[in-house]
Amino acid sequence: MKSIVITGVSTGIGYDAAKVLVGRGWRVFGSVRQQADANRLQQEMGVGFTPLLFDVTDEMAIRTAVTHVQAALAGAGLTALVNNAGIAEPAPLMHMALADFRRHLEINVTGVLAVSQAFLPLLGAQKDWPHVPGRIINISSVSGRIAYPFMGAYAASKHALEALSDALRRELLLYGIDVILIEPGTVKTPIIGKFAEQVGRYMQTDYGAVLEPLAATVEKRERSALPVAQVTAVILKALESERPQTRYPLPRKKFTGWLLPRLLPDRWFDRLVAQQLKIGKRYKP
Ligand SMILES: NC(=O)c1ccc[n+]([C@@H]2O[C@H](COP(=O)([O-])OP(=O)(O)OC[C@H]3O[C@@H](n4cnc5c(N)ncnc54)[C@H](OP(=O)(O)O)[C@@H]3O)[C@@H](O)[C@H]2O)c1
Repeated sequence: MKSIVITGVSTGIGYDAAKVLVGRGWRVFGSVRQQADANRLQQEMGVGFTPLLFDVTDEMAIRTAVTHVQAALAGAGLTALVNNAGIAEPAPLMHMALADFRRHLEINVTGVLAVSQAFLPLLGAQKDWPHVPGRIINISSVSGRIAYPFMGAYAASKHALEALSDALRRELLLYGIDVILIEPGTVKTPIIGKFAEQVGRYMQTDYGAVLEPLAATVEKRERSALPVAQVTAVILKALESERPQTRYPLPRKKFTGWLLPRLLPDRWFDRLVAQQLKIGKRYKP
């Protein structure tokens, strides 16, 4: 039986992926931080689902989870690990509390490494591993390749995740364990609903005038966001494909949200952003 550990399954992408994989007969170990979420998901998903209780910043709790998974696998290998847990809080970098910035790196980058290190032996990072080596799938973002204003901490963390994943994949060639990145654009999950509330605290700064109209368009962005099922479909492809790609971009808008920002010279893209945010007049490179 195929088995998988997915971090952050309480809501959003992790929740959907866990549910779909249980439905396809996988044995899913999903991490949550609240006992209430563990109970709810266990009841909803049944015997194919085992909740793990840990915060990705808590090494001891991660280690305890590894022992549970190891015992449950009873000598079998782990087929895959999906590092999905993450946070995304918008803020102008100039005003962002350093503790909030550090938290992005701690959860979205160091947390991924901590969980990967802990589960690697079960994925086959040991000499003379008798099973097929496993796969690691890291949920990055379009923000792992493009840095939009007010998403600086998030973009920095996802850019770091991209580099970490490339280096790790090359190191794990030793064991035949693959590392695959998924790079979605805006997805309809609870993470985006918090935007207006989170930028609220910066309304008194010079950025207030720029953030206010942005916050007002959140509902529209939510409506045009990718359905979570599209991300799950790509996770399945990354898990099941015999020759998976190293990264799967999944932009909301292929041309304006992916190709253009990556092809345009930086200054041109800066100008587009300035126009979009209506700060064109103040923009003097
Ligand atoms: N939604 C998007 O537009 C989008 C786009 C591209 C990439 N992504 C990425 O997709 C992943 C999942 O996000 P989502 O959109 O599904 O958001 P979500 O619904 O808010 O889910 C985030 C999950 O991460 C968990 N989590 C947060 N901090 C954690 C920590 N310190 N330790 C363990 N778990 C933690 C949350 O648990 P709690 O419920 O306990 O907080 C929750 O289960 C993230 O890595 C995100 O960057 C999202």
